[in-house]
Amino acid sequence: MRLPDPALVVLVGASGSGKSTWAAERYRPQEVVSSDALRGVVGSGDHDLDASADAFAILEQVVAARLGRGLCTVVDTLGLDAVRRTGWLAAARSAGLPAVAVVLATPDAECRRRNAARDVPVPAPVLAGQLKRMRVAAEELAAEGWDVVVVDGSGAAAEGPPVPHTAASTPERRTSAGVEVVLQVSRFPWGEDPARWLTGLALEADRLGLAGIALMDHLVQIPQVGRAWEPIPEPYVTLGLLAGLDTGLRLGTLVTPLTLRPAGVVAKAVATLDALSGGRAFVGVGAGWWEREHLGFGVPFPSARERLDLLEDGIETMRALWAPGTKAWEGSRVRLPETTCYPRPAADVPIVVGGSGERRTLRIAARLGDGCNLPSDPEVLAAKVAVLRAHCADLGRDPAEVAVTVLDLPVVGHDRDDAWRRVERLRGRTAAATYAARHHAGTAATHAERYEKLAGEGVETVFLALADLSGPEDLERLAPLLA
Ligand code: UTP
Ligand code: MG
Repeated sequence: MRLPDPALVVLVGASGSGKSTWAAERYRPQEVVSSDALRGVVGSGDHDLDASADAFAILEQVVAARLGRGLCTVVDTLGLDAVRRTGWLAAARSAGLPAVAVVLATPDAECRRRNAARDVPVPAPVLAGQLKRMRVAAEELAAEGWDVVVVDGSGAAAEGPPVPHTAASTPERRTSAGVEVVLQVSRFPWGEDPARWLTGLALEADRLGLAGIALMDHLVQIPQVGRAWEPIPEPYVTLGLLAGLDTGLRLGTLVTPLTLRPAGVVAKAVATLDALSGGRAFVGVGAGWWEREHLGFGVPFPSARERLDLLEDGIETMRALWAPGTKAWEGSRVRLPETTCYPRPAADVPIVVGGSGERRTLRIAARLGDGCNLPSDPEVLAAKVAVLRAHCADLGRDPAEVAVTVLDLPVVGHDRDDAWRRVERLRGRTAAATYAARHHAGTAATHAERYEKLAGEGVETVFLALADLSGPEDLERLAPLLA
């Protein structure tokens, strides 16, 4: 395919995807403006990350000068930063040059293989983050208004040695209806060997094709789930253990009350989790509700209004700390004198807002969330989704940017009889029929049908919590749900 010439050509691809090679085969060296080469000019070499800010400042200047003269300009950077990209696009527009985006769609495994073979490889989690961002790049480009978008997949041909299993090479884990099922673990009957129980559970969840593991974040076991003397581990320490396993599971909390730790400290823990897991972290956040766990640990428990303020400001703080650079943050509600938070997350970490208060919580989710976690009961869900959408409309937010997730607490039996035995064991003083209906007691197949309906309502993720999860072997009963 012949590209317009002269033109602005912006390369988009992970490290090792072959951007510089592609450009060198087609353009004169003077036409290619490369952030790596400029790092070498103003810094100690192509990989001198300390020189990035200077290199990019010069790159912007060179791109603007060349476009201003109507000269062909090939921008050789990762191309994954939408803000920079649309800036160059606007500059091409005002110079009257056509704007071309070239996506180097080289398979992840090939990028990894080439990266590993380099003298100075990019750290694996960083590359994983780039590859994750590449998956949405084509979609983003389509929305930005480029005159031509070229996808070059020729890098696929090369043969390489097998690559180790990481998040980015894991196929999409979704049910046939398209929902992902994340195991929410709230009880920890781990016996004498907690680490073994936890790692066994994660490995089995991974094997069965669950999309991730979410941990409850409480200081004392909550009465809805168990007794106060039953173990409820600190989630970020626990997720750190799971991050070290060779799985493709997403890892996070559902939900972290932003009353327990300052939001910036949560941002730090989550960024570390994301770096350690190669971009598999997510975080659920909420306003906190249980006074007892606060008072017992010497943590203030302010009014509902103040707790919701902590939630809203906390999300803004987390995003500010995860954004590129270390500059001061002057947000709508939050001010920080600097935003120095290293390690950075390996990729964008989704923030799921938990809680369904219609006036404030759902508005915060609509304004700032990547997801909003709601109850799975179909009627309640429909009403809450309507409110969430109305807030989005009011705030001018694209509702597609706020994924709907649900917490589901099913009773799952191997067969009908087993399901009812479980109801008998779990129901306490609640009438059996009431408990069975509330928890949709049935087999995995009946829950699969229900999840299909939820998918039809726009639900993307089901956080599935089993009241009677005893250990790794006990997950097998979910298998038909995931097939
Ligand atoms: P490049 O150096 O072209 O990748 O190729 P890149 O996308 O510009 O990477 P960054 O972002 O600057 O880090 C990476 C390696 O892959 C080989 C090149 O020779 C180089 O060693 N390569 C590239 C191939 O083997 N085949 C190709 O088709 C392209
Ligand atoms: Mg390059």
